[in-house]
Amino acid sequence: MDNFLSVRDLRVHFPTPDGVVKATDGLSYDLAKGKTLGIVGESGSGKSVSSSAILGLHRGTSAQVSGQILLEGTDLLTITDEEMRLRRGKEVAMIFQDPLSAMHPYYTVGNQIGEAYRVHHDVSKKAARTRVIEMLELVGIPQPDRRVDDYPHQFSGGMRQRAMIAMALINDPGLVIADEPTTALDVTVQAQILDLLQQLQKEFNTGIIIITHDLGVVAEMADDVLVMYAGKAVEYGPTKELLTHPEMPYTWGLLSSVPDLTADVEEKLVPIPGTPPSLLSPPSGCAFHPRCRYKDQVAGDLCVTQQPDLTPGSRGPGHLKRCHLTDPTVPNEEEVAQS
Ligand SMILES: Nc1ncnc2c1ncn2[C@@H]1O[C@H](COP(=O)(O)OP(=O)(O)OP(=O)(O)O)[C@@H](O)[C@H]1O
Ligand code: SF4
Ligand SMILES: [Mg+2]
Repeated sequence: MDNFLSVRDLRVHFPTPDGVVKATDGLSYDLAKGKTLGIVGESGSGKSVSSSAILGLHRGTSAQVSGQILLEGTDLLTITDEEMRLRRGKEVAMIFQDPLSAMHPYYTVGNQIGEAYRVHHDVSKKAARTRVIEMLELVGIPQPDRRVDDYPHQFSGGMRQRAMIAMALINDPGLVIADEPTTALDVTVQAQILDLLQQLQKEFNTGIIIITHDLGVVAEMADDVLVMYAGKAVEYGPTKELLTHPEMPYTWGLLSSVPDLTADVEEKLVPIPGTPPSLLSPPSGCAFHPRCRYKDQVAGDLCVTQQPDLTPGSRGPGHLKRCHLTDPTVPNEEEVAQS
């Protein structure tokens, strides 16, 4: 695999008066150019914190960041703030969940996208405006030469998200991080935005990290998927393989929480019982053990005393799972639904 991005043993810890919050604790993954990685996990599992580190967003804060973030061989954790500033937007860009909070209400959409372009290109305002109109057209904004002068609040939610995609892609970055990019949108617009992202990805050969709660989005978009729990990867592998042959109880639980969109009758969502763990004092052993109904199938009290390593699953080395179960046979649907 051509490792365009390699994250190695990434840790992002926040010292607080109550102790250290280990929001990301030893995360490793790879992404090739033009491919998509889906990161899933419950709220608070460290998805945003780990991805923000790629853009250097923890710099200048009290966060303790360690490990390696290798982008085409350069460790982004070791470059200067100035170098990071030059790469941000040009090589790595981010699409946020809520474009209203990412865009300034007092400046026109065109102005803001144009400035994002001019930071990295020595061009006149007029030339930038022409480029912005081209981008707005590319992301499907109607009458872009007129809408370029609108303010963010004059755009609909879907149009704002399109504008944000235009802003992220205007410098043709190799890597785009999309953090819950469609959560705030209705289902039809959501599908359009995801289609747009995929279409632009093909055109620009962009690597995408998509952070989402929605396994449907992962199934549709991602080549690989990383399941996070309590700041760590608990399962990682090719999307189709992982979604059809998940090998650890937390992923089983996540999958059974997904509504079956093809079902005739409305199915009840099955949430995973219990609450996500505290990252200040995570449970001993496997962090999932207080919520896991399969721990009794592991000999002794291993689940409670010893943290499992991320090891190859039973179906090949490309699929990793963090679980002590020696026979991770996928339980039948009924069992999954009760887990
Ligand atoms: N500056 C900070 N100081 C202390 N703790 C923090 C800080 N920023 C984030 N955290 C904690 O780090 C953990 C991971 O946060 P993160 O935002 O990455 O979660 P997430 O997986 O993106 O969740 P969500 O799905 O809700 O967006 C959370 O417990 C959060 O409270
Ligand atoms: S290691 Fe034990 S507690 Fe953790 S997921 Fe596997 S079976 Fe459950
Ligand atoms: Mg988040």
